[in-house]
Amino acid sequence: MTDNSSISGALAPHEKATPSSGQATSTPATATPEPTRLPPDTCHLSPDLSPATYAVFGNPVAHSKSPRIHAAFARQTGEPLRYETRLAPLEGFADAVRQFIAEGGKGANVTVPFKEAAFRLADELSPRARAAGAVNTLSFTAGRILGDNTDGAGLVRDIAINLAFPINGRRVLLLGAGGAARGALLPLLEQHPATLTLANRNEGKAKALAKLAQGAINVSSFAELAGQQFDLIINATSASLSGATLPLPDGIFAAGSLAYDMMYGQDETPFLAQARTAGAARRADGLGMLVEQAAESFFIWRQKRPQTHDLLAELRAK
Ligand code: ATR
Repeated sequence: MTDNSSISGALAPHEKATPSSGQATSTPATATPEPTRLPPDTCHLSPDLSPATYAVFGNPVAHSKSPRIHAAFARQTGEPLRYETRLAPLEGFADAVRQFIAEGGKGANVTVPFKEAAFRLADELSPRARAAGAVNTLSFTAGRILGDNTDGAGLVRDIAINLAFPINGRRVLLLGAGGAARGALLPLLEQHPATLTLANRNEGKAKALAKLAQGAINVSSFAELAGQQFDLIINATSASLSGATLPLPDGIFAAGSLAYDMMYGQDETPFLAQARTAGAARRADGLGMLVEQAAESFFIWRQKRPQTHDLLAELRAK
């Protein structure tokens, strides 16, 4: 999941960074003549004072929390930007993005079901977008479309920083082998867990994903998890969307463990309810991931990292 799937229907987007080139400040050491400067009143070009425009593309997209999140980031950082929703036709994502660029759009988030289409559309991909096979953040720079994926970074940041649960040295279990799991694998491996186990209903899909990631990943069926314990169990399946529980063996939550559901909703998700009953000491849904992936997108576009604590508390209070 990712954009994180909201069980009650709210979705949002994601991404990462290709820092845009900073202003060139150095001048050649050799003595070159100072360029002649025109006095201000003779400049032919007036600066563009309209706010930079960003959007989230999805279908559906009306429920997206991204406009609210980015408006809050813009207020907090003083960055002049507009952020809107764009409903793209299911077969018309690329055209919708090109239209937005023609209108002056500077960047976009991409949510369900267009993340793979965004991956194909991008002229350049960040390593993490390539690893995820999906793009949730687009930047339009110098006539090129840059694709990134901030979902995994958002997940890791929510767990490690917001929840103060360092992943380094922990036994981590990732459930699922779809797009959401794929986006999480590399960012999780980069945190150097003691072990990373991938379990999926269709074990063949988990094996293929682990092979793709080329990291030290243990692949398991749900049944084979019996007798093992994990410090961090992350649900990247879409089972919660249908209200289904997962066939997790008893006793897999280690003492002090954290259960994390990439899904979020008004009510406790089925996975978190299951984790509570199974003895998970701590439980968190994916709302923090949603806000953190947005912050990472904002950083890519504006080179300013918003503070997320207050906004997250505000969204949770609703
Ligand atoms: P996403 O992009 O959200 O990851 P996806 O690519 O369709 O969505 O992947 C959905 C994941 O949820 C898959 O890992 C799927 O398991 P299978 O590969 O075995 O189909 C998993 N999933 C969905 N419903 C499930 C359920 N009821 N029990 C176990 N796993 C489930």
